Amino acid sequence: MKYPRMFVFCAVCFVATATVGLAQRTLAPTMPNFSVLEAEQVAGQQIFKDHCASCHTLKPGAQTAFGPNLRGVVDRRAGSVPGFPYSDALKNSGLTWTEDNLRAWIADNARMVPNTLMPHVSIADWAEQIYLIAYLKKLSSPQR
Ligand code: HEC
Repeated sequence: MKYPRMFVFCAVCFVATATVGLAQRTLAPTMPNFSVLEAEQVAGQQIFKDHCASCHTLKPGAQTAFGPNLRGVVDRRAGSVPGFPYSDALKNSGLTWTEDNLRAWIADNARMVPNTLMPHVSIADWAEQIYLIAYLKKLSSPQR
């Protein structure tokens, strides 16, 4: 039996489309429970490693020689980790580490608190600031 050429062409197209569709559905990587917040926290963890971890620890109760422990820093009063020798400038700043204050601090700490002991850092990129703070915040929430 001889099928019209157009019919054969359509049949081939149909089978091809169906096969590709099925393959896509079975092979597509699935991302169960993908969360933007978690992605931000992971990015923030890397930024912390690159820019902050040389001086600051996040381990509960631990202390480094260079900077105060930053675990739970979000919404903490500035200069309040017991035993850390803060500068008078930071101790007397009257600041609380709200997200906005943290953003200003990591963008230009020396401008925010002149005479701080923390060497100048400048995380000027908005996205990086958000990631870093998402990570610090994760470690500030009571359930962690
Ligand atoms: C070279 C060392 C160093 C680096 C790098 C550094 N810090 Fe600091 N940081 C300090 C010191 C020292 C202080 C105490 C400043 C003072 O007493 O004036 C401090 C203080 C702070 C405080 C205030 C904490 C409190 O208890 O009041 C925050 C918040 C902070 N740093 C965040 C960061 C973040 C975020 C980064 C990375 C982007 C960073 N620091 C990088 C040394 C450092």
